Amino acid sequence: MRETRPVIALDFPTFEDVKTFLALFPEEEKLYVKIGMELYYAVGPEIVRYVKSLGHSVFLDLKLHDIPNTVKSAMAVLANLGVDMTNVHAAGGVEMMKAAREGLGQGPKLIAVTQLTSTSEEQMQDYQNIQTSLAQSVVHYAQKTAEAGLDGVVCSAHEVKAIKEATRKNFICLTPGIRPAGSAIGDQKRVMTPADAQAIGSDYIVVGRPITQAEDPLVAYKAIKEEWSG
Ligand code: C5P
Repeated sequence: MRETRPVIALDFPTFEDVKTFLALFPEEEKLYVKIGMELYYAVGPEIVRYVKSLGHSVFLDLKLHDIPNTVKSAMAVLANLGVDMTNVHAAGGVEMMKAAREGLGQGPKLIAVTQLTSTSEEQMQDYQNIQTSLAQSVVHYAQKTAEAGLDGVVCSAHEVKAIKEATRKNFICLTPGIRPAGSAIGDQKRVMTPADAQAIGSDYIVVGRPITQAEDPLVAYKAIKEEWSG
């Protein structure tokens, strides 16, 4: 299940920035990139078509959360764009997740967000009125995600072990918050190195700034890929 390429978070505001960044990589280097809300809403579906036309794989990180029928129709549109992976909020419910799968079809991977890492346990208990620990809520949502027939979840590398134990070994754990030793943490709070993420059983790692803001993104990418797949 493990993807040997680190997934590069293309957190750029414009199409031009993306083109400039991707041009730094040799044509034969096929990447796996994450396109998030900012870029998708700024540029539109064209950004996915462009990246796919270069032969790269795309994780479209739009975190859908709506009534089942709406999510199903939206997923059918994303499937037509040729995305390789996309996601929903597990909070939308099992019915919504099943509808998402139906709309997307069986080809692309479909994963769910459990609790956002920006949510603290205190906020969750107060605002969402969920009276468990944050870790229990994450595992609960992961179990519901597996039940709905999805492929996995977005999670912290620190949660991988508990999630796999509660679901199944090949349930995908995609983990952001990755920093090679010695690189700037930025606004991330709990980080892990690519090697540690590998050791702990992550299936996909998402890496943004350590590659996109590097002096030489190609060199940084290769070093992280080596550490992750080595
Ligand atoms: O630059 P950096 O490596 O921190 O980027 C990580 C990417 O993963 C960003 O696009 C960020 O929005 C995303 N992400 C995250 N933590 C989560 C979920 C998504 O950092 N829990």
